[in-house]
Amino acid sequence: MDKFVIKGGRKLTGEVIISGAKNAAVAILPAVILSDEVCTIENVPSISDVNICIQILTEMGASVTKIDKDTYRIDPTTIRNCCVPYEYARKMRASYYFLGALLGKFKKARVSMPGGCPLGDRPIDQHLKAFSALGAEYTLTQGMIDLTADKLKGSQIFFDVVTVGATMNAMLAAVKAEGLTVIENAAKEPHIVDLANFLNSMGADIMGAGTDVIKIRGVEHLHGADYAVIPDQIEAGTFMTAVAATKGDVMIKNVIPKHLESITKKLEKIGVNIEQFDDSIRVWVDGPLVKANVKTAPHPGFPTDMQSQIATLLTLAEGTSIVTENIWEQRFRYVDELRRMGADITVNGKVALIEGTGKLMGAPVKACDLRAGAALIIAGLAASGVTEIEDIYHIERGYDCMEGKLRALGADIEKVSVPDKQSVKHEEVKKAI
Ligand code: EPZ
Repeated sequence: MDKFVIKGGRKLTGEVIISGAKNAAVAILPAVILSDEVCTIENVPSISDVNICIQILTEMGASVTKIDKDTYRIDPTTIRNCCVPYEYARKMRASYYFLGALLGKFKKARVSMPGGCPLGDRPIDQHLKAFSALGAEYTLTQGMIDLTADKLKGSQIFFDVVTVGATMNAMLAAVKAEGLTVIENAAKEPHIVDLANFLNSMGADIMGAGTDVIKIRGVEHLHGADYAVIPDQIEAGTFMTAVAATKGDVMIKNVIPKHLESITKKLEKIGVNIEQFDDSIRVWVDGPLVKANVKTAPHPGFPTDMQSQIATLLTLAEGTSIVTENIWEQRFRYVDELRRMGADITVNGKVALIEGTGKLMGAPVKACDLRAGAALIIAGLAASGVTEIEDIYHIERGYDCMEGKLRALGADIEKVSVPDKQSVKHEEVKKAI
């Protein structure tokens, strides 16, 4: 197992290039299944969730060639297997996008219940509601979801909650269904629009992505396409927050400023300076950080995937801040770890009360999920002394070479290999014999 060792207290300065968006890439790669020809996908982040998607596609029989660091050429015409086994599906949430893509292409799918960050209850009832509305039947047996449909017919789908995953899956299943599908109360995240743009580049007919009503006219055939994934809104927001926490000055490149609006506005309220350019933003701090109240919400609201990072920043601000998590039941598990670093945070249900102490102290901590891990990195960068972060595999699921990018900005961060408990015990037993 690896860990990050961070010596805190150094300002981040210079420039960083943001990678492709994880939550777009993990939907676009399964969507290639729907094509009847070869697709080339660019600006794909080098993260473990993408590696799992590539493994699944390969296991299914697709021919995948890695053209360069962030470009894949995928031929889905050789796919023969419509099953995603537990060993892969359990490693990430996005494995459920193979349900929509396989159903849309082959009218059948068999995918294990997905894994992903432990954020409390993560039902899939809205996904199943969408598939049923389009004419599919499903069974849930021994942790496997089986979908079959004689044919898929366009339908009206009204989501009871705004859900990114189910909106994506409904689009994937509907693009080749007969007739018109109307999705209402749809999610509007940038990665929803990116998936729709990719599908349309293959010849799909999707209108309204990015609004709460998406209309899809089914088509017979989807041809190949060359497509570049959008920059990662959350990676950019994470770096913006890290610069603020270290009172640095960084140009963050390869971003879409429009996608960052809610994060930019919140950081400016906290006292962070931000200057926007066409595809980059400059972030710097030259004064005190002040308290703020944050409420997470579906896009264009403040993203839940930025909640732990902004909360960490607020521990360094003057005054009492309130953070309300409206999307997930359990997204404050990182607070115990921040308390070990001297943070003064009280959590009551979906509300965290943060007494800004202005400082944090290095300590050994553990990442409990992807964004919690990112928050602990930010805390370690700002803290005095040394912070060691274990279980960094969570972080590597969604951030492309985070430690390399931070080191290039002046951070003192190293990835250190730690023999796992089993091998240490084994070595001790061997020595004892
Ligand atoms: C996606 O998860 C993201 N993951 C999450 O990012 C993100 O936190 C979330 O959207 C919200 O933006 C990926 O894109 C791979 P939802 P998803 O369906 O699709 C409820 C990260 O850090 N719901 O939008 O699973 C659900 O319980 C990860 O990158 C139902 O009730 O989230 C939640 O309260 C963590 N029934 C709300 O909707 C359903 O069938 C939003 O969930 C589906 C969801």
